[in-house]
Amino acid sequence: MPVITSIADLKRLHKRRTPKMFYDYAESGSYTEQTFRENTEDFAQIRLNQRIARDMTGRSTKSTMLGQDVAMPVALAPVGMTGMQRADGEIKAARAAEKFGVPYTLSTMSICSIEDVAENVSQPFWFQIYTLTDDDYNKRVLDRARAAGCSALVITVDLQLLGQRHKDLKNGLTAPPKFTPAVLADLATKWRWGIEMLQTKRRFFGNIVGHVESAADPASLASWTAEKFDQSLNWDRIKQLMDMWGGKVILKGILSEEDAEMAAATGADAIVVSNHGGRQLDGALSSIRMLPKIVNAVGDKTEVWLDSGIRSGQDVLKALALGAKGVMIGRAYVYGLGAMGEPGVTKALEVIQKELDTSMALCGKRRIEDLGRDDLLIPNGFFDTYS
Ligand SMILES: Cc1cc2nc3c(=O)[nH]c(=O)nc-3n(C[C@H](O)[C@H](O)[C@H](O)COP(=O)(O)O)c2cc1C
Repeated sequence: MPVITSIADLKRLHKRRTPKMFYDYAESGSYTEQTFRENTEDFAQIRLNQRIARDMTGRSTKSTMLGQDVAMPVALAPVGMTGMQRADGEIKAARAAEKFGVPYTLSTMSICSIEDVAENVSQPFWFQIYTLTDDDYNKRVLDRARAAGCSALVITVDLQLLGQRHKDLKNGLTAPPKFTPAVLADLATKWRWGIEMLQTKRRFFGNIVGHVESAADPASLASWTAEKFDQSLNWDRIKQLMDMWGGKVILKGILSEEDAEMAAATGADAIVVSNHGGRQLDGALSSIRMLPKIVNAVGDKTEVWLDSGIRSGQDVLKALALGAKGVMIGRAYVYGLGAMGEPGVTKALEVIQKELDTSMALCGKRRIEDLGRDDLLIPNGFFDTYS
């Protein structure tokens, strides 16, 4: 068993153990991948302010997100096809999150269904919905989420059409994969993945197949999005979806102050400053660069969270110190899942929590709510480089 000390270690194992098609699906951004790269590069430009001779005993990373107690303010973001990274991946990730004490979000585009996950956890999880034209489907899927006890709805507002990811087209991404000679050759070295996959019946989009009529190719993410996603989405429609749910709502995919104002005015309980991990508008600014402006605009009206680019506890600290009340992680836990299944997700969370705790201590802080701008050293003009 290799010694895992960082998210980068998990990423290396993920790459080695998971079919190329699915590793590439996770490890890509749209078009030139500029935004994908800058999400992590921009975090790296921010430095931490070392302080000494401050009592660092009795520390805690505990906090709340949407009023819910969390072991650290880090939720698992919705990630499509998690059950292709590893058999029953959504169930494994949800279990790891529950045991660790952080929220899990199930994607509409998951392999395990809402019911599959609900049967395997005991605490409520969150459900993510895309903005689709088909209200009949929307209503039914929200009824299912409610029946499964989901405690909040994440509405993803930055994907009315799919930002092209070149690798997915080149690899012919589908769930389950089509057994071309290239896929078979790749699988020859990914035997663990194959054996586990043969042992589960969950190999299709569990929230879609059998729940919708007339998806031309329900195995293809790209064709489903092209057919069903609502390109006419506006704020009235977002409000309609929020009302259709009637419970707590998180709007994910906000990257401008004006949109944040609209989200707060529409009644979102939380917003996620996000560029979808660099998978949608290539050329958009990194989330961390946009965060302070958005916190300034709406931080007193709604909870502001951030995702896109978090690969360490230091990154979490930076986002919190810039005013985020919490963060979501996508790839960081997917690497863990692809590397080692449920224990890998736990390992990813442990790594991040340890890094967060140690970095807080060395900044002279003991509690999440004490983190602030004084913990950071930021290049001059960093937030005003682009206007
Ligand atoms: C492989 C993959 C699949 C994703 N699928 C979804 C999805 O189904 N729904 C959604 O709202 N966001 C989806 N996202 C975006 C994540 O929720 C999140 O915004 C993003 O991963 C954050 O960036 P990070 O991976 O750098 O942490 C996906 C991201 C990845 C990497």
